[in-house]
Amino acid sequence: MPKINFVKSDESIVTVEVPSGITLLQAAEDNNIGLSGPCGGNLACGHCHVVIDDEWFDKLPKLKEAEEDLLDMVWNVKPNSRLGCQIKITDDIDGIIVHIP
Ligand code: FES
Repeated sequence: MPKINFVKSDESIVTVEVPSGITLLQAAEDNNIGLSGPCGGNLACGHCHVVIDDEWFDKLPKLKEAEEDLLDMVWNVKPNSRLGCQIKITDDIDGIIVHIP
């Protein structure tokens, strides 16, 4: 199972192992990381905003327009920002580092 390293706002790191195929948001919710998705992953809330570590950002599939549009409205957005509900966990991103803003 792929590992995800969540870096919380207090800089503590929580490493979890999750099944392939779930979203980054689900992985965070299942492990009480402190990320929520009130819209159920329907690109309507932006609460699942995360910042992907530099070395991992380009390994993810590119943003689609709808995700980009919503990120434009999210507070504290960074060049490596993504929405956790739009990122599928696969073996290709085993070890990814994800910052919780
Ligand atoms: S859960 Fe609402 S936009 Fe991701």
